[in-house]
Amino acid sequence: MLGSCTRGVASGRIYLGGLRPANSTLATRVPGVSKRPARTVLLFFLAEHMCLELLSSRGFIKLLSTGECQSGARTVLQLLAFTMPPPPLLPCLKFVVLGGTALNEDTMKDCAVLFSNHYGIWGDEASVPLTAGSRIKMSVRKLRAEVLPDPTNGFVSLCYADNTLVGQAFATRWAFDGASTVPPWILCTVLYYNDDTGGRVCWVTQLVVSSEHRQKNIATMLLLQLAAAQPNCTAMGLASTHPASCLALTKAAHVSMLHLDLSFIQQHAKSILATSPVCYIRTARLRGSLFEKDGDPAVVSLANTEYFVDHAEPRAALEKWESRSSSEWPLGKLLSGHEFFVVVPLNPPR
Ligand SMILES: CC(C)(COP(=O)(O)OP(=O)(O)OC[C@H]1O[C@@H](n2cnc3c(N)ncnc32)[C@H](O)[C@@H]1OP(=O)(O)O)[C@@H](O)C(=O)NCCC(=O)NCCS
Repeated sequence: MLGSCTRGVASGRIYLGGLRPANSTLATRVPGVSKRPARTVLLFFLAEHMCLELLSSRGFIKLLSTGECQSGARTVLQLLAFTMPPPPLLPCLKFVVLGGTALNEDTMKDCAVLFSNHYGIWGDEASVPLTAGSRIKMSVRKLRAEVLPDPTNGFVSLCYADNTLVGQAFATRWAFDGASTVPPWILCTVLYYNDDTGGRVCWVTQLVVSSEHRQKNIATMLLLQLAAAQPNCTAMGLASTHPASCLALTKAAHVSMLHLDLSFIQQHAKSILATSPVCYIRTARLRGSLFEKDGDPAVVSLANTEYFVDHAEPRAALEKWESRSSSEWPLGKLLSGHEFFVVVPLNPPR
């Protein structure tokens, strides 16, 4: 059938018979395209022109509408399918999870480049030597120190599109204090320490997806991979200015943002922070109605990390989510220098 023929369209132009420049991705992806005989190419060319002629003829449209030209209609539909642009080519995505100690220098360099080119820009309140409007950058050394401080308990989920790194999610896991769930008589036992009664959190220390590949569920997939690689973790969390990263987290943990368990965040946030090996999390100050009695009631769950990134993109994403879901963002208002603070339960170990 003509409609199933391989077609090439660039800038609205049809490449005859599906032929494209020799070095194009499609030409290399579809074996046999370039072997199409010249006669067939000529046939497609004529067919395309005939199709346009037929469509512009009022007589033909009349015939089509009265059903008197069934075979002609079929031919035209086939030709129309042939001239319609093909679905966009999807890159071949590959996901990999690596332990922190298995990360070599080359991969770290790729991660630093992806972050520096795609993470975001500094906001107006960023202080000297940072410049408002300039890209937020990170060297390999800073990356290791900030997002992988404990390599033996650190890991990364990477996404490659046609062998180019397009997404990364760094995480560190640690046991957080389960004291609030342990009865006081157990606490009296001075030597008591049992890792299994407390929680274990998988904390996402950095999440970034290349701007060309966003809104294709890559962040969600990266976090799903992380969660799957940590079956013993009871919670997963992150601090981010971007609602999309919070949404990716809830999706990866199979919970709905509309039914986010705020009491879970309230219950565990302080102990997660206090026990964190990740410096910017350990020193962050919790803000919002979940943690403070006084204060702006519109602020629900934030961490003050003094990270003055530009909020234009997160704000637009938030407005989009609120209008799409006809709901208020459960984590409340975002303040300058703050990030949304979200923790969700993961399936406890059986
Ligand atoms: C945040 C970020 C990682 C999201 O990556 P992504 O691959 O586009 O995310 P996903 O496609 O998995 O989308 C997850 C959810 O967010 C939504 N979303 C993603 N980008 C959005 C946007 N710009 N506006 C509105 N919603 C958006 C998606 O629709 C999806 O929700 P849904 O399943 O309810 O439809 C990416 O935008 C990014 O790298 N931003 C810059 C860096 C940053 O802010 N990182 C977070 C700091 S930890």
